[in-house]
Amino acid sequence: MERYLTWGYRGLRGCLCININFNKRLAVKPVWSFIVFWGVLEGVFLNGILQVNDKQHLEIGGCDTVELAAEFGTPLYVMDEGLIRANCRRYRQALQRYYRRGGKVIYAGKAFLTLAMAKLVQEEELGLDVVSGGELYLALKAGFPAGDLYFHGNNKTGEELQEALRAGVGRIVIDSLPELEELLGLIRSVQPQEHKTAVLLRVKPGVEARTHDYIQTGQDDSKFGLSFAEAKEAVRRVLAAAPFLELKGFHCHIGSQIFEISSFGLAAQSMLRFMADVRAETGYVAGELDMGGGLGIRYQPEDKPPSIETFVQEVAGAVEKAAGKENYPLPELLLEPGRSIVGEAGLTLYRIGVIKNIPGIRRYCAVDGGMMDNIRPALYQALYTAVLANKAGQDPVEKVTIAGKACESGDLLIEDIYLPAVEKGDILATLSTGAYCYALANNYNCHPRPAVLFVRNGERRLVVRRETNADLVALQES
Ligand SMILES: Cc1ncc(COP(=O)(O)O)c(C=O)c1O
Repeated sequence: MERYLTWGYRGLRGCLCININFNKRLAVKPVWSFIVFWGVLEGVFLNGILQVNDKQHLEIGGCDTVELAAEFGTPLYVMDEGLIRANCRRYRQALQRYYRRGGKVIYAGKAFLTLAMAKLVQEEELGLDVVSGGELYLALKAGFPAGDLYFHGNNKTGEELQEALRAGVGRIVIDSLPELEELLGLIRSVQPQEHKTAVLLRVKPGVEARTHDYIQTGQDDSKFGLSFAEAKEAVRRVLAAAPFLELKGFHCHIGSQIFEISSFGLAAQSMLRFMADVRAETGYVAGELDMGGGLGIRYQPEDKPPSIETFVQEVAGAVEKAAGKENYPLPELLLEPGRSIVGEAGLTLYRIGVIKNIPGIRRYCAVDGGMMDNIRPALYQALYTAVLANKAGQDPVEKVTIAGKACESGDLLIEDIYLPAVEKGDILATLSTGAYCYALANNYNCHPRPAVLFVRNGERRLVVRRETNADLVALQES
């Protein structure tokens, strides 16, 4: 248990606190909460999608969040469709601009996927990465062209592989040798005649990205992907199955919420070295290199992730440089962003309920959601910031902790945030909840999952209705 002593000063537009952490030998840890406040209201998080209107209410996509909460209830996911579309375009344009050989941007559906999102991705001319029979089903149901689907997963079942083969997905991304064997076993009976299934091999580049352990994936000790030795064996087996399979190239993904682009440079070097080895041993030259996703976003005002353009430019540059060094023909470059397309476009609205003041210790403000609609703080200590949507123009005056309503002590959405005086009934907006929140939502304690709204230019449309209590028991036998 950490013990802090806090001095506070409240200024015109916020407050400044100095925390002394006694457990860390009196290390002084300043908390510039006014940065949070200025940041939220003065531009860091505005992104062109958040505004404060003359009622002092927070707006997203030109819609008043307090009105949205009243109309659609809380908790409520609200996504700015304009920002999602802009991010898709920025990726596509940056890839065109910075990579000579061209390539493709593939949205990673695991970050946030609904029928409306799949349609949006298609309209924006991105491919779509799906990781389960369910995501594949959703994409096809949305009318997404099968040829633009990339089917991922570390433990695809035989049924899922059959569904992917029947649908004719654009690429199956092979993750292990057993999966390859299963695919080869199925392919003769399931694959339509004259059709060759295009595959990529997912390889572990041996790079440890600096991010949370649970979202690192490129290191040797990872459940995802093939080691270099296994990947070489897979190349031989796929080439030997040439009448049925076509090896398009290689894939790697080093992790998520990454700010240090140099990690991608290391992964590019490692992949090109491996590809040159494969060429030397088998003569095979890859036409595609998929560098995965992973670009981080701003959860806190002080977060400074690289821009989409910088990320694409750096990754493209690293691939070109590494290919040059290995004298390897430039492959097409594929990128699979998820979080950086939808993350900052979303916020979640809650209503404040019980407020519990524990004098000298903590002031808990409980909201009507929690780890059911945003499991990231409980799962990997993810940090968020928030705004009181109905008091968005007011100064922060108190330090509170935002508690969820799940029966878990660890269900705290935000520890120690400075907000205007919080009262029961206020509407709280947690920011940057567009990625891995709805996608990871659950029914813990039998809480129905929230609705999802898309907003844009003052218009809003319901893309997922709120679950009802009847939905909770709809699958159950008495
Ligand atoms: C294979 C693969 N591609 C892409 C992504 C998307 O990553 P992000 O949302 O960090 O861009 C992931 C997510 O972990 C992934 O596993």
